[in-house]
Amino acid sequence: MRQKIIVANWKMYKTLSEAEEFMGSLPREIAGVDDVKAVVCAPFLFLERLAVLTAKTAISLGAQNMHWEKEGAFTGEISPVMLKDLGIKYVIIGHSERRQFFGESNFQINKKLAAAFAYGLIPILCVGENRRQRDAGETEEVIEKQLNSALDGLAVEKDLLQKMVLAYEPVWAIGSGTPANGEEANVVAAFMRSLLLKKGQEVSRKVSILYGGSVNPENIAEFTDKAEIDGALVGGSSLNVKTFAALIRIASSERRT
Ligand code: PGA
Repeated sequence: MRQKIIVANWKMYKTLSEAEEFMGSLPREIAGVDDVKAVVCAPFLFLERLAVLTAKTAISLGAQNMHWEKEGAFTGEISPVMLKDLGIKYVIIGHSERRQFFGESNFQINKKLAAAFAYGLIPILCVGENRRQRDAGETEEVIEKQLNSALDGLAVEKDLLQKMVLAYEPVWAIGSGTPANGEEANVVAAFMRSLLLKKGQEVSRKVSILYGGSVNPENIAEFTDKAEIDGALVGGSSLNVKTFAALIRIASSERRT
């Protein structure tokens, strides 16, 4: 059985003291919930401090991006080795805001995915169609292309590959206040699982698939109660510790029913 995962994506929000305050109270807010994995993807600058604050907790940290090289003359970039060295476990790869605003290509995403595996980080790979593609009925085509190109040529052992996390994030649903419909998201997640079959039955069955895009405490159950969806990648509703904790608690009770 796949464990539920709720991932906070803080994007470019918070100061260090706000991040510390959040992490100081998150363990208390989710005390007693032991069947949902909580991951916080914070800005790079906060990771070192947050690693200290989460050291004795079950909360994991993630980065929101990284370069694919171990080191080098890449001004302004952060390497997988630097993240690993701080004890960071996850890294978001190919978020639509990276693709859209920073010109991240499928080629770069492929290299980043390979680097995450090579340096022992768990990638949270984001895929999703934009509004125009959705209206044109191209959702599956877009997702197939993004997923296939991300996984292209990846020589990773099955045991490692199945630890990967995928996030279905329709671009039109991100930050818009209009989430996807739970049933439709479940169909897309099932489609993503079918694409993973070429990596083997076990990989297809074990990879966690999250939904992301305007998730909040009122709508999260619509996603987490679906057979193919294993949790959520959350932007806006992850910034307030009580709201984020509520998402985790709802995902937990969902699982018990
Ligand atoms: P949102 O962002 O929850 O604010 O829509 C989700 C994301 O970008 O991962």
